[in-house]
Amino acid sequence: MGNPFRYGQIVDGEGYCPRPQLEKRLRSHLADARNVVLYGERRVGKTSLIHRVAGRMRGRRLVYVDLLGIKSVEDLLARALQAVEPLVGSDRSLSGLLKAVSRLGISVSFNPVTGAPNFRPTYTPEPLRADNLRQLGELWRELDGRRPVVVVFDEFQDVLSLAESDAALAVLRGEIQKLGSIPFCFSGSVRNDMLSIFSSDRSPFFKSAVALEVRRDDFKGWEDFLVGKFESGGRRIGADTLADLVARVDGSPGDVQQLCAAVWDGTRRGQQVGGDQVAAGLEEVFRNERKGYEQVLATVTGQQLNVLRALARLGGESIQSKDFLREARVPHASSSKAAMLGLEKRRVVFRDGEVYRFSNPFLRLWLVEKGV
Ligand SMILES: Nc1ncnc2c1ncn2[C@@H]1O[C@H](COP(=O)(O)OP(=O)(O)OP(=O)(O)O)[C@@H](O)[C@H]1O
Ligand SMILES: [Mg+2]
Repeated sequence: MGNPFRYGQIVDGEGYCPRPQLEKRLRSHLADARNVVLYGERRVGKTSLIHRVAGRMRGRRLVYVDLLGIKSVEDLLARALQAVEPLVGSDRSLSGLLKAVSRLGISVSFNPVTGAPNFRPTYTPEPLRADNLRQLGELWRELDGRRPVVVVFDEFQDVLSLAESDAALAVLRGEIQKLGSIPFCFSGSVRNDMLSIFSSDRSPFFKSAVALEVRRDDFKGWEDFLVGKFESGGRRIGADTLADLVARVDGSPGDVQQLCAAVWDGTRRGQQVGGDQVAAGLEEVFRNERKGYEQVLATVTGQQLNVLRALARLGGESIQSKDFLREARVPHASSSKAAMLGLEKRRVVFRDGEVYRFSNPFLRLWLVEKGV
């Protein structure tokens, strides 16, 4: 029997623990063709939720656009076009439209055997090819006219890393506004960036979508789900041990499953899981990830490192307090703030309201436990 825990990937079927209320709300907004913005921190289950709900809507096909790491408008176009590839199939007339869309910024070729289109961004000089982006709207309308679609942008905040992000957002918003019958869903894990797109009155997307938050604690029967996985391979785990395990990694589902998977690997059928096994699982995670942690430490400044250590020990509620400054060995509140902003920019930490937290809770535990 293989390890039943899944992490770092979309989960479905047996691996998916239901979130009935959230699923219902998302489904009903999309079914009514309302646009939705989905907030949630890293590894909380946004992408899985999207596929679960938007990927299974009656009468609508999913156009799933992943914007993770895009650097240019060409990247954005290429991702948007890739997303419709699976829906085009051998429909030649649509292939023609795709070709038209991509005339300026993207090169397209068709697989001679399957007829499937393949996109490659080509160099396009400034300024923004607004026309190409506008044609995306045309493409979605065309698709939707044949069979209704739901369009999802995942990691939408990465639009902000484009040099022409303001213009790109304005054009996209303009197109989306014209497509009232198509529900759009925007998902993102960098809260402040998403807020600046959807909640700032200077942004073209201001108040353009209903907000839904994906939280760590909105599952139905999360503990039973985890206990069931342990039991499926003959391991037993008590409620207290499990609660302790969940709390150690701040309860984020992806991180919880990662630790559970390591605990599973270190135990055998018939064994009771207790504190020692959880500790051994944690060591296993450290062994696997240590190189990554060391790389983070090697690429931050000395002051950022000190602030990171203080954050690991004291938490991020008051990073400008006397205690925090003393622990971080920085002289001024402004230096602490500046270091934290640098770490946030590198996504080593993120801001949850006014509280700073580690993006990877295992890095925090490692810093504390190893006394780094
Ligand atoms: N419904 C669920 N049931 C069980 N585990 C889940 C569920 N949703 C998420 N997880 C856990 O979290 C991990 C990450 O899920 P997913 O990729 O959907 O999250 P995400 O919020 O999109 O993450 P990222 O910020 O990395 O894009 C999964 O591999 C799994 O371990
Ligand atoms: Mg995701």
